[in-house]
Amino acid sequence: MNILFIGDIVGKVGRKALKENLSFVKNKYKIDFVIANGENISNGRGMNENHYNFLIDEGVDCITLGNHYNDRDEIGNFIEFADEVVRPLNIKCDFLGEGSRIFDCNGAKIRVTNLLGSAFMKEEVNDPFLAIKPIIENDISDIHIVDFHAEATGEKKAFAYALKNSVSAVLGTHTHVQTRDAQVLNTGVLYISDVGMCGSYNSVLGDEIDSVVERIILHNENARFKLLEDDDRLFSAVILRFNDYTFKPESIEPLYIIKRKGE
Ligand SMILES: [Fe+2]
Ligand SMILES: [Fe+2]
Repeated sequence: MNILFIGDIVGKVGRKALKENLSFVKNKYKIDFVIANGENISNGRGMNENHYNFLIDEGVDCITLGNHYNDRDEIGNFIEFADEVVRPLNIKCDFLGEGSRIFDCNGAKIRVTNLLGSAFMKEEVNDPFLAIKPIIENDISDIHIVDFHAEATGEKKAFAYALKNSVSAVLGTHTHVQTRDAQVLNTGVLYISDVGMCGSYNSVLGDEIDSVVERIILHNENARFKLLEDDDRLFSAVILRFNDYTFKPESIEPLYIIKRKGE
């Protein structure tokens, strides 16, 4: 059983990166199930219905979100009926949708849980460990993938160890930068601090360079982050491999594919 997890898809360039890579990657690596983080897919902030449909049409089986889960008001109109979407489980407010879901895939039960970290994040959240505990205690799934959407690598790794072997994988998202630390933890859990993003290669975290420099480095409060319409494209993901019979986690392999503008 092979599962592909695609990092935060950022805007139009990110959608293009997904479209041009997904079927090739699926065939090459014999992927059975695809998970993608869609929190930045609509112009960098949130996911509208059009882009939700785009992901499903492209062959994504499950969409996770993050701190931008409700940046598009219209998500309130469709998230309730979008069975493929998993929004953060530990948000403080009452919001529609589910934070953990089980999917059927070739006879296997795959659970996907989305959590927000608590270190250096703007949002105040419920404790992620306490939030996932009741799910783990009563879990009937064969494979459990956790998208831990957080800023701090230390929090992500400590969280993964704290879960011992009660989940199959803890995959960091949110920083948009793929880390070099993909490993099978000595607890048996597949881990990476951050899967990285799909989006503009010549950018700062997917945003157009000058707009970020203006705002962050030159402290121009009126400057707004922008996205490019076209650029070299980065596709960041990980492939998770599980034993076909026992569903024991076997390996994690990062993908980092760059395609040049005009290609
Ligand atoms: Fe993101
Ligand atoms: Fe995020």
